Amino acid sequence: MEDAINIHVELHDGSRVTLEAPTDMGLSVMEVMKANELDLAAICGGMAICATCHVEVLQSSELPEPNDDEAYMLETLPHATQTSRLSCQLKITPELDGLVVRLMPEA
Ligand code: FES
Repeated sequence: MEDAINIHVELHDGSRVTLEAPTDMGLSVMEVMKANELDLAAICGGMAICATCHVEVLQSSELPEPNDDEAYMLETLPHATQTSRLSCQLKITPELDGLVVRLMPEA
């Protein structure tokens, strides 16, 4: 696929899958994972209010800083790490090629 990147997702069992993500559709990392039927709830649909799309970034080039809504949610998560993000707030761009994230527990 032209205008697509690869992102890698570590699942709850420790295995990794590689997903192809189009860069020209305005999708988020969460939407790409849902489209590939990965095990995440993302119940708020990308509003940054449920945190059920929480991932830990294991490897990336530079990512945009979290916005205020995302930063606030991340602060409330017991399992959050220094590189935690809400995958619904990470837009697929060419710069994200090679991103590696790990699915995190929901609570
Ligand atoms: S889908 Fe709800 S915070 Fe990301």
